[in-house]
Amino acid sequence: MNALATGAGRFPAPLLGCLLSLAIVAPGVALGDVKGLSKMDFGKTKDGEAVELYTLKNGRIVVKVATYGATIVSIEAPDRDGKVDDVTLGFDTLEGYLGEHPYFGATVGRVANRIAKGKFTLDGEDYTLAVNNPPNALHGGLKGFNRVVWKARPFESPEGPAVEMTYTSPDGEEGYPGNLTVAVTFTVTADDELKIDYKATTDKATPLNLSNHTYFNLGGKTDASILDHELTLVASHYTPVDDTLIPTGEIVPVGGTPLDFTKPVAIGARIAKMTGDPGGYDHNFVLDGKPGALATVYDPRTGRVVEMKTTEPGVQFYSGNFLDGSNVGRGGVAYKKHHGMCLEAQHFPDSIHHPNFPNAVLRPGETYTQTTSYRFSTR
Ligand code: GLA
Repeated sequence: MNALATGAGRFPAPLLGCLLSLAIVAPGVALGDVKGLSKMDFGKTKDGEAVELYTLKNGRIVVKVATYGATIVSIEAPDRDGKVDDVTLGFDTLEGYLGEHPYFGATVGRVANRIAKGKFTLDGEDYTLAVNNPPNALHGGLKGFNRVVWKARPFESPEGPAVEMTYTSPDGEEGYPGNLTVAVTFTVTADDELKIDYKATTDKATPLNLSNHTYFNLGGKTDASILDHELTLVASHYTPVDDTLIPTGEIVPVGGTPLDFTKPVAIGARIAKMTGDPGGYDHNFVLDGKPGALATVYDPRTGRVVEMKTTEPGVQFYSGNFLDGSNVGRGGVAYKKHHGMCLEAQHFPDSIHHPNFPNAVLRPGETYTQTTSYRFSTR
């Protein structure tokens, strides 16, 4: 049995059950006996592929995930007065996601973040990727994991309602080597946590860096930006970048810089010091790897808090610098600069060119795993 077959063998057992359960449910109704789980048709892609939208409810939060791009479409969470609102940027309809938008809620891969000049050499072979963020490759290419339809398997995990999404990326897709099988499982726990578990296997060595690109605005559907949100990052170092956002390779202390979020600071407090075009924060922070929340965001206006935990070595904190009002999202809100922020747990950008960064190459026989969670509460 080759490595891919072994990899695929990790997932098939429940598939039959999944097919049976899907066959007996009508769109929009609860799925079998799984508490807090329902499914709806979300429309079709331009190629006529059907897209499903799963709703996972547990504790005080409701999460919607679409099979298009394994995308988190919304996360509803209460504020300190119990008022429930969606705390992510996104669209109500599939059309919004099919159009141009900067990865709202998407699962990003095969390689999240940038690869310098869209070129790399692995095991003596040269590979060329689409330069979709000149002069670099960004977020998996022209049709990354955010633009494909994943297969869904809803199930009841011991922690709560869950949906596993799988996708097999063929050898050579977007220029990357190896047939890569990916599974991303979204679970909503009774503790108001959205947990995302990733697994992947390959039959040829490939760079791999999976992430989720949800934009948060803890104010809900609002005109207010995220500049008042207070951020804490358990990260005493970051990876400085050149003016094309490619790391220089250095790992530098945040102390004394506007990137020091080791104590809670409003995102807007020092953002003006982050000059350049478009300015703002778009940096990989090196997580200190302590137990507990590694990133915390607090919105003083609504009292909402999100805490991120991850097994990844880094997090790209992106302050929505490229949002320019051209995407009008849920509630008719035009998403302007700094309207949302991302905490993209991941390996460091352009790792393939930096041997001093944690390894981001997956080889046959190995299994890639990642767990990243976002827990919602109020103060
Ligand atoms: C990531 C990148 C940003 C930007 C957004 C999408 O967060 O680091 O530079 O490309 O995705 O707009």
